[in-house]
Formats: sequence, C-alpha cells, structure tokens
Amino acid sequence: MIDAACGVLESAPIAEGLHRLTLAAPEIAAQAAPGQFVHLLVPDGAHILRRPISLMAFDAHAGTITLGIQPKGEGTRLLCAAKPGDTLRALGPLGRGFDAKGAACVYFVGGGLGVAPVCCAMDAFATAQSRAFFGFRSAANAYGMTQAPCPVTAVTDDGTLGARALVTVPLEAAIAQRRPDVILACGPLPMLRAVRRLALAAGLPCQLSLEERMGCGVGACLGCSVKVTTPEGETYARVCRDGPVFDAREVCLDG
Ligand SMILES: Cc1cc2nc3c(=O)[nH]c(=O)nc-3n(C[C@H](O)[C@H](O)[C@H](O)COP(=O)(O)OP(=O)(O)OC[C@H]3O[C@@H](n4cnc5c(N)ncnc54)[C@H](O)[C@@H]3O)c2cc1C
Ligand code: FES
Repeated sequence: MIDAACGVLESAPIAEGLHRLTLAAPEIAAQAAPGQFVHLLVPDGAHILRRPISLMAFDAHAGTITLGIQPKGEGTRLLCAAKPGDTLRALGPLGRGFDAKGAACVYFVGGGLGVAPVCCAMDAFATAQSRAFFGFRSAANAYGMTQAPCPVTAVTDDGTLGARALVTVPLEAAIAQRRPDVILACGPLPMLRAVRRLALAAGLPCQLSLEERMGCGVGACLGCSVKVTTPEGETYARVCRDGPVFDAREVCLDG
C-alpha cells in the first residue's frame, strides 16, 4: 500500500453527476488490480477522513490511475474541483478486487457509479464471449460504453437510453441464452441484492463490489462490517480490508 502525492493530469466531467480524474500515480498503478480503490485526502486539509474511490482504470506503463467521482458532498466536490497541475494525496491500492482470471465468458453488471469499477474489470477480464449490462438513471448519466472491450447493453430508469428497465432484466435474458462462467457486479445495494438473487438461483459464481459501507477505510473502525457466511459459520468481514469485492454466496446483503 502506497501513500503518494499524485499530480492531476486530467479533470473533466464525463456525464451528468460524474467527473473523471486522471492522476500520475506510478507506484499505485504498478500494484493495482480491478475492483480495488484508493483513499483520497480532501485537498482543503480540513477533513480528517479520506474518501474511498474505486479505480475506473489504471495503466501501469503510463503510471496513471483514472477515477470517476460523483460530487456528492463537500469532500467529493473539492476532489472534483482539482485542476491539472494540482496534487492530490492518495493511499492505495486498497482492498480485495475482482478475480475472473481464466474465465471464458464473464457477464459484467454495473449500476450508476458502480459502472466505474466494472469498466476496470472489463479492461482486465473481457473476452470475446463476455457481455456487459449497465443501468443508468437517464441517458445524460451514461458513461463507460465507448471503447468497451465487449458488447454493452445499457438500460435506463426513464427509457432515454436503451429499454426502460432495471439492469437485471437484460442480464436475466442473457443468462437464459448463455450461462457465463462468472458475474462481476457493482452498483447500488438494491441492484446488488437482485444480481445476487439471480446468480444464486441460477447456481452461477458471482462477485459483488460493495461501495456503500465505509468509515475509516484502513481496518480500524469496524464501521464497514458486513455479515458473511464462511465454512466455519457466520462472522463479520470488513469491506475495506476483506472487500470491497465479495463472493455473492458468502456476503449477506439483508437490511
Ligand atoms: C469501496 C468504495 C468505493 C467507492 N468508489 C466510489 C467511486 O468510484 N466514485 C464515487 O463517486 N464514489 C465512490 N464511493 C463513495 C464515496 O466514497 C462517497 O460518496 C464519499 O466518500 C462521500 O464523501 P463526501 O465528502 O462527498 O460526502 P459527505 O456526505 O459529505 O461525506 C461525509 C462522510 O460520510 C462518508 N460517506 C458518505 N457517503 C459514503 C459512501 N457512500 N461510502 C463511503 N463513505 C461515505 C465520507 O467518507 C465522509 O466521512 C465509494 C465508496 C466505497 C466504500
Ligand atoms: S472502514 Fe474502518 S474498518 Fe473498514
């Protein structure tokens, strides 16, 4: 894990409510894996807690990491306001990411902000048989589809892009046509619950990235605990250390 001062190379909006930041972070990029995240210090120096942001892409040769950030509260607004030439402090790469090495057919599922880490997973694991399913609120919120390494089916809540449907609708139809070797998903909790149900019912391996639960981000506060079932019985895992990616059969997403 590296704590580095990273130069901002690019900072631009890429969709409504989403900003892309590209940082010079050679040491982090060299160790990164899809599904991992970085912990960014808010640049005003007034916020003690860092903000966890998933890797949307990384390039070990160029020494860069790319992030998709939703300006939600003060911390993320200040991060999105960073300009090329500024420096941001990033700790990472953190957490346990996706793993689909050797899978011939991967179905990628992303909802909203969750599309960002799924793009990173697609760069690493997409094959000729793989497919991706993205759900957005509206066409204005859509991103991640140009230069995708496998076919993408996008749906929206309002029907302005693709069908007016939940992302699990085309996913379920695709599973009925061809069973993937594994499903990789990230998105809001209700979407993850629905993907988990589908995968378990079909007996398919599935990995889910949880982005909604975090406190300190470094394993100290237990604020990110989630219930998991292991061969030894029920226990608690930390999203920041043991995740954010979990096996769908193990993680409990109730309530
Ligand atoms: C593993 C992981 C990956 C993430 N990846 C991304 C990403 O790629 N892009 C993105 O835009 N957002 C991502 N998030 C969510 C992002 O970290 C929060 O939106 C952000 O921390 C909110 O900070 P804020 O100051 O803007 O908002 P505020 O609401 O002002 O934050 C106040 C406090 O709550 C915490 N907080 C609020 N919401 C969240 C949340 N959903 N998760 C964790 N902490 C929260 C903040 O750390 C802060 O301490 C990710 C979260 C996790 C856990
Ligand atoms: S966020 Fe504090 S232990 Fe995971």
